[in-house]
Amino acid sequence: LGERLHYFEEIGSTNEEALRLGQSGAIDGSVIVAERQLAGRGRRGASWFCGEGKGLAFSMLLRPQFERALWPRLSLVAGLAVAKAIEAAGLFPEVKWPNDVLIGGRKVCGILMEAEKDFAVVGIGFNVGQADLPQELREVATSLETEGAGELARETYLLGVEAAFVNYARLIATDFPYLVEMLRERCALEGKKIEFLVGQDRREGFCQGIGDGGELLVRNGGKVERYFAADQIRPLL
Ligand code: BTN
Repeated sequence: LGERLHYFEEIGSTNEEALRLGQSGAIDGSVIVAERQLAGRGRRGASWFCGEGKGLAFSMLLRPQFERALWPRLSLVAGLAVAKAIEAAGLFPEVKWPNDVLIGGRKVCGILMEAEKDFAVVGIGFNVGQADLPQELREVATSLETEGAGELARETYLLGVEAAFVNYARLIATDFPYLVEMLRERCALEGKKIEFLVGQDRREGFCQGIGDGGELLVRNGGKVERYFAADQIRPLL
């Protein structure tokens, strides 16, 4: 990963660029990094704020060797890789399934995976050095700087996330239980009452953690439901 690094001072969205490069045959492991995104994409059509020169925004172009049904696991292990890189800085992140990374309940990283027929793009927006996030984000978001991480070279985090991601992605088809175990240890939702969206449907229940396939387990009345996709998950009081 990262043998081909495409660096941009300014770009619309690194995911968009990675999708374009993927169509034109760029190799597996290409990484697209930008100092500034003018149209950073979030999940469900949201936009992504990055903060001039302080956030880390990059996308990895992947051509997985394993079956397509397992590709969604790439986005799970991306969250895990970010959590790992944060732990190396002495902080204790949690992963809010599927792949938001939180510190103290606030989001420090968001991940957007977009898959095409023969490649996938995993985009990572990681709040590293932003000292002041915009007022409207402070309730829900944080940065490593805000959380008092020491040295804040963004390159170090980029390399840390990449290295952990490569290690984990290798295990997706062969040793997934090991990865699930790591996700369970960092699960931000376990034991909490949550509400969430499945398509346009709003649901709620008690999160029972993560199943063997990486799915979210939610107890509702007497039975446990399994979700492989859900959005806008939030804990209820
Ligand atoms: C989310 O909504 O939580 C996902 C946010 C993903 C943002 C990253 S920043 C790098 C990459 N390029 C984009 O346009 N989006 C992702």
